[in-house]
Amino acid sequence: MKYETESSLTAAVTAQFAKTPDPRLREILLALTSHLHAFARETALTIEEWSQGIEFITRTGHMCQGGRQEFILLSDVLGLSMLVDAIEHRTQSSATDSTVLGPFFVDDAPTRLNGADIGAGLAGDLLLVTAAVTGTDGQPLADADVVVWQCDEHGRYDIQYPGRDGYFLRGRFRTDARGLVQFWSIVPPAYPIPDDGPVGDLLTASGRHPWRPAHVHFHIAAAGHRSLVTHLFVAGEDYLDSDVVFGVKPSLIVDLVPHGPGTAPDGRVCPNGWKSLDHPFQLAAL
Ligand code: BEZ
Ligand code: FE
Repeated sequence: MKYETESSLTAAVTAQFAKTPDPRLREILLALTSHLHAFARETALTIEEWSQGIEFITRTGHMCQGGRQEFILLSDVLGLSMLVDAIEHRTQSSATDSTVLGPFFVDDAPTRLNGADIGAGLAGDLLLVTAAVTGTDGQPLADADVVVWQCDEHGRYDIQYPGRDGYFLRGRFRTDARGLVQFWSIVPPAYPIPDDGPVGDLLTASGRHPWRPAHVHFHIAAAGHRSLVTHLFVAGEDYLDSDVVFGVKPSLIVDLVPHGPGTAPDGRVCPNGWKSLDHPFQLAAL
């Protein structure tokens, strides 16, 4: 009778997956099997430890409900999201750098017109954001789809509030003929990622903090171009060199320009002043 031993098991499993008809799926399953087995061998994983691992993965799945996506958090804190992103963008050089999507993107952000205030009625320092979208040749991209989202002054996103009334601090804009999008918001603070679940337990057990540096998210799509998922990080703020999800890139750290009390360029009267953020985004052609 044929049976498997520690030394023959990996070959036995890969021989089974070698029959997978789809070549890419076959490649992934074979690599997954050999790396998982190597991990178990290297650490001499015990039955007790692996059952704790299964329990952790099970809790991670149960935590995924509504606005909570614990598997994205897990991928992010393991650095896997940024690694996959880096691999995907290996050949891109002159386009704007990408970073993690994170768990707080929603596909149905409210449509807003240029000049809208996505933070209307919310506390915080006023921020006027102007995004200029071009190709890598510098030509403006009109009619590009620009989705923005950020946290409030408490470091929370709208979808983290149970029973909230609609979305806030997010919107879907279209660039004008000059490739520009402009909107009002508030200066976002640094915030901890949700850490009351298994991913938080993992951070605690490993002595890691849960903080992300202050940022605004952008998802930009234009016809004939690769979509861009990125953030802009506020220069000089905390955690820029220890982002819990490893998402910071130097090119994405930007200065906010302070303005004293007065009237902003679009005519808004700002008795307490405002800050402005102007940034170019370059999309690679398909
Ligand atoms: C975010 O920036 O929204 C985010 C990204 C990764 C994990 C948690 C939050
Ligand atoms: Fe965020």
